[in-house]
Amino acid sequence: MPATVVVGTQWGDEGKGRFTDLLAKDMDLVVRYQGGHNAGHRIVVGGEAFSLQLVPSGVLYPHTIPVIGNGVVVDPTVLVAECEALEARGVDTSRLVVSGNAHLIMPYHYELDRATERSLGKNKLGTTKRGIGPAYADKAARIGLRIQDLLDPKIFRQKLDVVLREKNAVLAKVFNRLALDGEEIAQLYLGEIAPRVAPMIADTVTLIHDALDAGKQVMLEGAQATFLDLDHGTYPYVTSSNPTAGGACVGSGIGPREITRVVGIAKAYVTRVGAGPFPSEVDGAIADQLVERGHEYGTNTGRRRRPGWLDLVMLRHAVRLNSVSEIALTKLDVLSSLSALRLCVAYEADGERLDKVPYHQSVLHRVRPIYEELAGWSEDLTGVTSVERLPRAAREYIARIEQAVGVPVTFAAVGPDRDQYVSFAA
Ligand code: GDP
Ligand code: IMO
Ligand code: MG
Repeated sequence: MPATVVVGTQWGDEGKGRFTDLLAKDMDLVVRYQGGHNAGHRIVVGGEAFSLQLVPSGVLYPHTIPVIGNGVVVDPTVLVAECEALEARGVDTSRLVVSGNAHLIMPYHYELDRATERSLGKNKLGTTKRGIGPAYADKAARIGLRIQDLLDPKIFRQKLDVVLREKNAVLAKVFNRLALDGEEIAQLYLGEIAPRVAPMIADTVTLIHDALDAGKQVMLEGAQATFLDLDHGTYPYVTSSNPTAGGACVGSGIGPREITRVVGIAKAYVTRVGAGPFPSEVDGAIADQLVERGHEYGTNTGRRRRPGWLDLVMLRHAVRLNSVSEIALTKLDVLSSLSALRLCVAYEADGERLDKVPYHQSVLHRVRPIYEELAGWSEDLTGVTSVERLPRAAREYIARIEQAVGVPVTFAAVGPDRDQYVSFAA
């Protein structure tokens, strides 16, 4: 059976977790394919909130198998702690499996993430400081340790010895930091963590293919988002993996022909955490209103998110980059009571109108948004569950988005709870 990808179309925190959870009702496997615990995916069910970082957002159903794919970078202490916290709240995590090929986030990755950010000073990226970039860098440099190394203490120690010599030299000589103790790391990873993680390790590629062959439904859950993609995002203000739908193939081990549905998640406005260009960013009273009404503070870092109007130039590009087949819009309720709404329909730079995201980053940094203004609505949408009950202005807002990006909006969420959404499916 075909696979479905859920992908963020903006700069993250679009509500991927809540839609993955909603769609997981009909899924057998839910697979995270990239990123790590830089993600924060919040799901609310009947008023009870769950914030997931590494565990796939299908975990709340007893019938799904949550899979952490080979493309993810895993801090195994975070994984164990997250599973324990879920178990303590009555969520069964015993079906969770993790790929042996997934790379490990090690203590020196955190040190290097922090030290690099510090040394960048005012040019810092504003990373989540979770060691994500350094872990992916080691993967590319072929000096990373993998989940499967936890199963072989001799190999683990050998690899750690070699890599730690280099890391400690860099920490001490470049960043003037203290060296890390290899024995302590080995004790933690092999002594405490390996026995807890070992039962979760599986051949996830075979598991996913067997499920597809048996006619089961597989969902691939993206973390981060299109414009944080290492290749397609606003480099260098990006994360170090490929959240775009192509990354779902690499990060899970399936081919592109298996994917038939790509659900692009878009917030009804836009937010961004951390540094980087953001053409439709707003400030002042409207920004405060979006942040406060939308509770735009990071799910796990608590940072205030930067808000802006919905950018249709970017969304159109995201539809292309990911082969988005439908859009699920979130947080439509947050726009209630704004007297007028703006949609960024094009950019202006150097006296020219641009309908596409400029390939030259310097241009993107200086573009000015060209807005179309639409009527707002005053009604509270949080109890709306049918299209007919959406105010006309809200329907027009959605229709304009569809017209601009060329794919249908199939869902509009009007509150954080699993049931707070409108479906446009026929
Ligand atoms: P993700 O990283 O893409 O999964 O998104 P996050 O969970 O980090 O951020 C989305 C936030 O918006 C979470 O706090 C959700 O509970 C909340 N949320 C999701 N959909 C809606 C919605 O339609 N309306 C409102 N008001 N909140 C929503
Ligand atoms: P979810 O899955 C929003 C941002 C960071 C920073 C940049 C690089 O919840 O949407 P990193 O720690 O990955 O090296 O940081 O990427 N970032 C996110 N922003 N949502 C996320 O995840 C993010 N994960 C990373 O703020 O700008
Ligand atoms: Mg998030």
